Amino acid sequence: MTQAAPQLLDGKRCSEALRARIAASASDVQARRGRPPHLAAVLVGNDGASRTYVESKVKACQDVGFRSTLIRLPDSITEAELLQRVQELNQDPGLDGFIVQLPLPAHIDADRVTLAIAPEKDVDGFHPENIGRMVLGQPGFLPATPSGIVELLRHYGIPTLGRHCVVIGRSHIVGTPMGILMSRNTDPGNCTVTIAHSRTKDLASITRQADILIVAIGKPEFVTADMVKPGAVVVDVGIHRIDDAARKSGFRLVGDVKFEEVAPKCSWIAPVPGGVGPMTITSLLLNTLKAC
Ligand code: GUN
Repeated sequence: MTQAAPQLLDGKRCSEALRARIAASASDVQARRGRPPHLAAVLVGNDGASRTYVESKVKACQDVGFRSTLIRLPDSITEAELLQRVQELNQDPGLDGFIVQLPLPAHIDADRVTLAIAPEKDVDGFHPENIGRMVLGQPGFLPATPSGIVELLRHYGIPTLGRHCVVIGRSHIVGTPMGILMSRNTDPGNCTVTIAHSRTKDLASITRQADILIVAIGKPEFVTADMVKPGAVVVDVGIHRIDDAARKSGFRLVGDVKFEEVAPKCSWIAPVPGGVGPMTITSLLLNTLKAC
């Protein structure tokens, strides 16, 4: 049986449409309040990947007419000093929301820092109050990556009701909230959800049952064609740099899915780059708009 070419869940295009609406709302806010929505991002230390992510977030704010502030702090900062900075940001009336980019250096307890962020400024949706609200279906901030994926499925009209969604990965940032959002009584949602992880036995037999496969395992090109059911919808959350001497840059970006061999089996697939990544940032912008 030959499979039709897969269609792309194009996060860049979907984001452009959403960001045009966000920019229009930002100018309404500016007209009404005399200042645009304002997001701050705290970056501790010098991790290259984190710097790239934070800089993309700051640039996205500028592109939609938000104000953004990048707060760079040294690796040597103590937990107490960082908690003090968080308190100052909580109390800053000129700031609508802020994020503390993870991971933090090992000597800082990330859970304690997250707990210190005022829930009404927690535009990452990581505070236990916002996680609790998400689980209970109450209004609050949803974590950016899973809610970006939901928006991507919505944008492309992917049917989800009654379908089997397998999520690989159980992180607090992606896998766990993803499972909750896909199982909610909403549209998109109403999936039967399986969360697979590093202790799952015979992973391929589980992933082959997935109508919708969401991969957030953090391992380059981990999912291969034999793990995917023909016609599945595949969403790749991973992003990795791998050496490639054939490229001028010396590297290329890949996801957690071996795109070339998996894509021909799928009905829809989110590419890397240009799939989930832009949607994560768009969700952060939407949360910031909501915060103000
Ligand atoms: N590290 C990886 N993803 C994220 C994110 O969405 N927010 C924050 N704060 N840190 C991250």
